[in-house]
Amino acid sequence: MNRWTKVIGTGGYLPPIIRTNDDISSMVDTSDSWIYERTGIKSRRIAGPEETASSMAEIAARQAIDMAGIAATDIDMIIVATGTPERVYPSTACLLQERLGIKHAVGFDIQAACSGSVYGLSIADQYIKTGFANNVLVVGSEICSRIVDWSDRSTCILFGDGAGAILLTAGTEPGILSTHIHSDGGYEDLLYCPNPQVAAEAKQHELAFISMRGNEVFKVAVNTLGRIVDETLAANGLQQSDIDWLVPHQANTRIIAATAKKLGMSMDQVILTLENQGNTSSASVLLAFNEGVRDGRIQGGQTVLMEAFGAGFTWGSVLLRY
Ligand code: UT7
Repeated sequence: MNRWTKVIGTGGYLPPIIRTNDDISSMVDTSDSWIYERTGIKSRRIAGPEETASSMAEIAARQAIDMAGIAATDIDMIIVATGTPERVYPSTACLLQERLGIKHAVGFDIQAACSGSVYGLSIADQYIKTGFANNVLVVGSEICSRIVDWSDRSTCILFGDGAGAILLTAGTEPGILSTHIHSDGGYEDLLYCPNPQVAAEAKQHELAFISMRGNEVFKVAVNTLGRIVDETLAANGLQQSDIDWLVPHQANTRIIAATAKKLGMSMDQVILTLENQGNTSSASVLLAFNEGVRDGRIQGGQTVLMEAFGAGFTWGSVLLRY
């Protein structure tokens, strides 16, 4: 009998502080209309000084565990995607493991920038399918506001903070149908964030933050996401019309609209969260999926395509039957 990976719980956390486009317009030379027209973003959430990647991950994870109706101690693997860990080590997954009171599990972080949650789901699927793990928690948790230069209008308008979680288990029916992950290290200069230690040693303020050549990233993202859609449909022998929902990484409405068009989908079939969340990097796909599940748009038996693109470049997709 086939062993499939099933979703049994989802969760999400957004910090309470809201930073609007008007707030940012008082910090840099920009405007609400420019930001909204070019990106689709109106506001984003900002973590409070006491919050960390693991504290936000814990809230999202507990929601997913509650929905699944299992005990936290039933989880045997924890995968956290983050580019903003509070410690270089222990990993955020280990810190989360302790917060959740799970003694017998394996936890590790992955670094794939904005594609982190899709990478995490792909890794979890391999371990579940092979029988190595039964219940896997995947979390994306990001405090992007701490690695954004709030004097750089080309990046500070885009990013926000948040955490998304998903709980997966082994089942006899699909499930995750396929995952596809890729990277190409040849694009480092277009989008990067140095290790803060490098900036401290060099005493160069600008080295501490995200640096992006947005327009060039945009073009590669649109083309690459178009290709991953083709790859995913072909691998499953599916047509565009077989997909009920697109749950994209939330970087820019124009990038998302291009992917939806490629799938022949209307924007009504896309779970969009970036208007009030901005780009939460590895948290964004899981936050969007959680929203679609909890507000009842994504129904049992429907087919969902998740996709993401980020620094590296990294990119990938997950096709699942909810
Ligand atoms: O999540 C990981 C992957 N990241 C992405 O996918 C992000 C992809 N990139 C983007 O979303 C878009 O490229 C941005 C939203 C970052 C920028 O939009 P754009 O349409 O590509 O603008 P641009 O960079 O080509 O800049 C156009 C103009 C420039 O002025 P000039 O040279 O035409 O006079 C910029 O200086 O807009 C100017 N500009 C701004 N103006 C007002 C750049 N940022 C701003 C701003 N407010 N915040």
